[in-house]
Amino acid sequence: MKFFIDTANIAQIKEAASYGLLDGVTTNPSLVAKEGMDFRKLLEEILKIVDGPVSAEVVATDYNGIMKEAIDLAKIHKNIVVKIPLIKDGIRAVKDLFEEDIKTNVTLCFSAPQALLAAKAGATYISPFVGRIDDISHNGMELIKQIVQIYKNYNYKTQVLVASIRHPLHLVDAAMIGADVATMPFDVIEKLFKHPLTDIGLEKFLSDWKKLNQK
Ligand code: G3P
Repeated sequence: MKFFIDTANIAQIKEAASYGLLDGVTTNPSLVAKEGMDFRKLLEEILKIVDGPVSAEVVATDYNGIMKEAIDLAKIHKNIVVKIPLIKDGIRAVKDLFEEDIKTNVTLCFSAPQALLAAKAGATYISPFVGRIDDISHNGMELIKQIVQIYKNYNYKTQVLVASIRHPLHLVDAAMIGADVATMPFDVIEKLFKHPLTDIGLEKFLSDWKKLNQK
């Protein structure tokens, strides 16, 4: 399973990359706005830290605007994946970008029919937002199950990128289902390491070792 970090914060990306397990980065306009930095400069910084797919989102919502932004973003670096919202003009653009070998991540996916549209258009990734679905008392993971099964049935190459992850159990469920990628905020990545029995066990090993050396 691939691990991406869902942030535009350079310090967080550097720290997560230092563990040696980071496969890529996803950003969105809200995350970029938080950093208050020029978008292009920010992407160039991220691309220096992580040698893997970096999702950069368009903000145009009409076909021509999406195509222009997508082509400009893709020119920045071979690892750029253009993130495109799941709207009619977006799906049209994904199809044409596929013909031009430009990688896409179709975002704001909340249903199986939407995921099917993205796969048929040739999206590289589909991003279903599990946390936001859970927030409205629906089951985000049920959607992941449906998408993984549908893509398997027809051998679609689009990778299921589970987004809007809020806690480690989302990652476990996504991995059990067999999703391709999980994009996680920094705090969730940090939580993956933690277990109280690991801390208690380590403390005991070290204190026993100290006793041996004091004898
Ligand atoms: O980047 C897309 C997605 O992961 C956003 O998550 O927490 O804003 O619902 P969230």
